Amino acid sequence: MTDGSGTTDGAGGARPRRRAVLLSGLAGAGAGVVTGAGAAVARERSTPVVDDRLTRARAVARGFRGTHQAGILEAPPPYAAFVALDLMPDADRGAVERLLTVWTDDVERLVGGRGPLTDLEPELAAVPASLTVTVAVGPRVVRLAGAPTPTWLTPLPDFPQIDRLEERWSGGDLLLQVCAASPTTVAHAQRRLTAAVTDLARVRWVQRGFREPFEGPGLPMRNLLGQVDGTVQPDVTGLDADLLWVGDDGPAWLRGGSSVVVRRIAMDLDAWDRADRFSRENAVGRRLDTGAPVTGGGVDAPADLAAVDELGFHRIDDAAHLRRAHASAPHERFLRRPYSYDDGTGATSSTGLVFVAYQADPVRQLVPVQRRLAEMDLLNLWTTPVGSAVFAVLPGARPGELLGQAMLT
Ligand code: HEM
Repeated sequence: MTDGSGTTDGAGGARPRRRAVLLSGLAGAGAGVVTGAGAAVARERSTPVVDDRLTRARAVARGFRGTHQAGILEAPPPYAAFVALDLMPDADRGAVERLLTVWTDDVERLVGGRGPLTDLEPELAAVPASLTVTVAVGPRVVRLAGAPTPTWLTPLPDFPQIDRLEERWSGGDLLLQVCAASPTTVAHAQRRLTAAVTDLARVRWVQRGFREPFEGPGLPMRNLLGQVDGTVQPDVTGLDADLLWVGDDGPAWLRGGSSVVVRRIAMDLDAWDRADRFSRENAVGRRLDTGAPVTGGGVDAPADLAAVDELGFHRIDDAAHLRRAHASAPHERFLRRPYSYDDGTGATSSTGLVFVAYQADPVRQLVPVQRRLAEMDLLNLWTTPVGSAVFAVLPGARPGELLGQAMLT
């Protein structure tokens, strides 16, 4: 099998050369410069690990058919593109059906490592790299399809204390969440899926995101404030599954689907640079080094919201993000799946978090938390929401079905 670099993945003669190139880069970057015979030994020892990881990561193909769409429960791979599109002004039900027919087929092929029928670069699709594509719709699509619109499928309420929302990062008729372990795979899937529907929909905004490529068990996500992020989550594959998936109390066409809230939150890193370490840890109520609550224990220890210091003040500040975001009732929970963004210009709003939350009903589950955070949250000193959008995540397509089939019938 070719690996895209012109060498082979088998035990062919080209392999050691590729290993050496890879590892000389790593040695220079991480472990200092090793020279002479020692370098050769060091390279040879670490080679299989690096090579296997890359090969494995490139080869993983996620499934497509099922009760739920992929891209929600999986551990988030390091690269993502969130692409919002608007249907053409004269779009009708037929346009929605055509678009979902094209995307169902194209997504199934892409995640399986095959190019869509119109793909002129199918070689790029041959590296699925854990690709998932999650399709979600806004209220206009649901109306055009003739299905009942869930009451929550509407923009989040305004939070005037914090929001500085910009049109260019907000709203949309459709959302594609494209995630993979390779940025090339993400770019290719994004391009194929948008190009396939140019006569039906226009791209409204694109938000690219990234996470640490070497995350894994014990290696958590850090956002660009340096904080361990995404620690406290509901058990959505177990007892809390109802918090994630639309059930019998939602519209029949959406059962097995969900909702996604995408908020672009800019970080003022210059101001963050000026804050001392105590203020930074106090802002969330967690340590920066380990991500553990400031009240003690490891990263997974429950935060002790009642703990007080010798003066009687709460050890987790009354305005700390953790305290303000903590669920005050069991239903106030959701799955966070954030990505960092950084457009590299260094300009205001050029760095931040693409905050992504999945839940069965955002108005019931997320809005009370967001309202508390807007009223008081120390993190607001450094963060500003500049974009916001809400979409209904279609249920999974079972064998023989289109994505959104139940919405169209
Ligand atoms: C740039 C913006 C944000 C940053 C940097 C941020 C960062 C963090 C960090 C570091 C934690 C602690 C570790 C963890 O449990 O993940 C946390 C917890 C949390 N955040 Fe945020 N967050 C942001 C925005 C939001 C927003 C907009 C919401 C909801 C509307 C939210 C909801 C939560 C929740 C529910 C928790 C867990 C609270 C608990 O311990 O029970 N966050 N966040």
